[in-house]
Amino acid sequence: MKKQRIPNTEECDCEALNERCEEAEKRLAASQKESASKSYFLAQATHDLEQPLHALRIFISLLKNTELKKDQQELVEKIGMAADNMYKLLENYLDLSKIEYGGVRYESSEFCIDEVSGRLAEEFSLICVCQQKEFHYIPSKLVVETDKILLERLLRNILSNAVKYAQKRVIFGCRRRGKFVQIEVLDDGKGISKKDIPHIFEEFYQSSEDKENKKKGSGLGLAIVKKIADIMSLDIKIRTKSKHGTSFNFQIPLATKKQEYLFRG
Ligand SMILES: Nc1ncnc2c1ncn2[C@@H]1O[C@H](COP(=O)(O)OP(=O)(O)OP(=O)(O)O)[C@@H](O)[C@H]1O
Ligand SMILES: [Mg+2]
Repeated sequence: MKKQRIPNTEECDCEALNERCEEAEKRLAASQKESASKSYFLAQATHDLEQPLHALRIFISLLKNTELKKDQQELVEKIGMAADNMYKLLENYLDLSKIEYGGVRYESSEFCIDEVSGRLAEEFSLICVCQQKEFHYIPSKLVVETDKILLERLLRNILSNAVKYAQKRVIFGCRRRGKFVQIEVLDDGKGISKKDIPHIFEEFYQSSEDKENKKKGSGLGLAIVKKIADIMSLDIKIRTKSKHGTSFNFQIPLATKKQEYLFRG
């Protein structure tokens, strides 16, 4: 908080006011410290919980492969789904708390965009096969300069929404725009209403319809996207039309060494 000196026009109360300003500054600094240590504790606790939960999911999948009666099978299936949801939620908490206590740093490097987008395309096209949806990927060999890990985390959240909300089709691709690469994820889903748009990047926000359908998530994915985009100084743009789908796009810089724009092509 920027300290403002109160002009010394009315002698009587200026000193008292300045003292109160100083006190308020101290309280703010103390509460910021407390909040950072809480975020750190949350990040640690979440991280520690991740290991046993990972083991639990492995045991559940082993149990699924044993001989079980039909009702036992159904029960194990439900336990597995609950454990998967818990794992996903925990991963989101971990991402958020790490960002909040400052445990995430921006580390830029030059790499071929396909190293990230190609891997994600493979992963999400498999999910689409299971859900009987089409996944179209437009590969690109352009070389960009940004934080690879953060880019992947951000895109994974956007893609997971696109796949979840798509009716039939998701399109994922990159194209060159001057000194930038524009990355776009398009789906043909229900779209996002005007009333929801200003809130979708808030923590735990879901449209009322999605809130009812608990299976669809917890409302943390785009909050993580927003925090990562801030760290990476990215401007995420959304185009959406009710019942026609949604597009998320943003631009990242091309690698600065000109001759390398296409060097891994
Ligand atoms: N591609 C999309 N199409 C339609 N609605 C979307 C789309 N992406 C996001 N939304 C809306 O924005 C809300 C917030 O998205 P967000 O990713 O934060 O949460 P979530 O997907 O519901 O849960 P989580 O990501 O934690 O699993 C969603 O609940 C949904 O209402
Ligand atoms: Mg999501």
